[in-house]
Amino acid sequence: MTFEAVNSAPADAILGLTEAYEQDQNPKKINLGAGVYKDDQGNTPILDCVRAAERVMLEQETTKAYLPIGGSPIYARLAQELLFGEQHPIIASGRARTVHTPGGTAALRVGADFLHQALPKARIWISEPTWANHRGVFEAAGFGVHTYTYYDAANKVLDFERMRSDLLRIPGDDVVLLHVCCHNPTGVDPSHEQWQEIATIARRQRWMPFLDFAYQGFGSGLEQDRAPLALFLANGAELVVSSSFSKNFGLYQERAGALTLVTGSTDVAEAVLSQVKRIIRVNYSNPPAHGGQVVETVLRDAALRKQWESEVTQMRERIKAMRAALVEGLRKRKVAGDFSFISRQKGMFSYSGLTDTQVRFLREQKSVYMVTGGRMNVAGITTGNIAYLCDAMAEALAL
Ligand code: LMR
Repeated sequence: MTFEAVNSAPADAILGLTEAYEQDQNPKKINLGAGVYKDDQGNTPILDCVRAAERVMLEQETTKAYLPIGGSPIYARLAQELLFGEQHPIIASGRARTVHTPGGTAALRVGADFLHQALPKARIWISEPTWANHRGVFEAAGFGVHTYTYYDAANKVLDFERMRSDLLRIPGDDVVLLHVCCHNPTGVDPSHEQWQEIATIARRQRWMPFLDFAYQGFGSGLEQDRAPLALFLANGAELVVSSSFSKNFGLYQERAGALTLVTGSTDVAEAVLSQVKRIIRVNYSNPPAHGGQVVETVLRDAALRKQWESEVTQMRERIKAMRAALVEGLRKRKVAGDFSFISRQKGMFSYSGLTDTQVRFLREQKSVYMVTGGRMNVAGITTGNIAYLCDAMAEALAL
């Protein structure tokens, strides 16, 4: 056995950019790569509610013993309440089971491993485009990965007609991955009526919806953003949800996420949970506790929860303001084209429409980092760097 034949893997399309950015010596550099929130000073803050929760935890913690394989049952319950709404009948029905996973990525991976074991012939359908890591996660779990149409690049809108006809062709044995809100990378979400239609197609075709919910609160609000989920829950439907608290709690490095499986009955739910636990046990055994305990502490305390909701609102509003400032900055510089679509996109990202040549120019000549394909993390824009960014983009657009 030798490692000599090992070739280097390419840098990660998103996190690899952060490494390159860190090495850049240009004092004007801007990182619009990874989806990480920054405040107007360019820092990724620890939320006040999180600091307060950590103080409580430090005082009250009595042990560092292992968590159960699926994490704390209280965390699971709170995650469900956030997903479905406290009063939603699915919670009382006992048809849903939730496990705490290390971030949204592990929720996707554990969900993918489970589905591939339970339905070995199933294929997964992901949107074109989608988060750069989706394909890798599902391929690693053994899935054949296919795509459905999502985006109309010429008009910067959802290509719903083609999406719809693609979804109608997917057979009932397959799995379809959908982004509940703040579609990554485009920032373009279906309307409520379009979601109704997608949910109807799912029921009719009987394919399994896998709903990726990484940005709850960053679209229109914590409650508004979960509205599409409810549409899939009617009539005892089964589905899978991956959720992340990285963004809305700012807990990126703590890896707090959840995998929720909604099944047809409590018996099936128990069987499914037992299989998911086996998958976790042979992988990371049980989740890291800290991030999950922070989420639990905040959500259980009325005052901290209120503070959290207001901090989520602040983050969402700041990103919205930066969208408007970017549109205005480009308009003032009289760049070719109308960039007002950036204001209509939701969440952290803007699919800017910049070509790969322009993205490369910005990175190599201006130290402005964004993901190939033109995805820009709007949450990385500040009042301090927006003028430089608009100047650099205007130059790139004139290439
Ligand atoms: C992103 O899309 O930038 C984030 O979800 C971070 C990641 O893990 O890629």
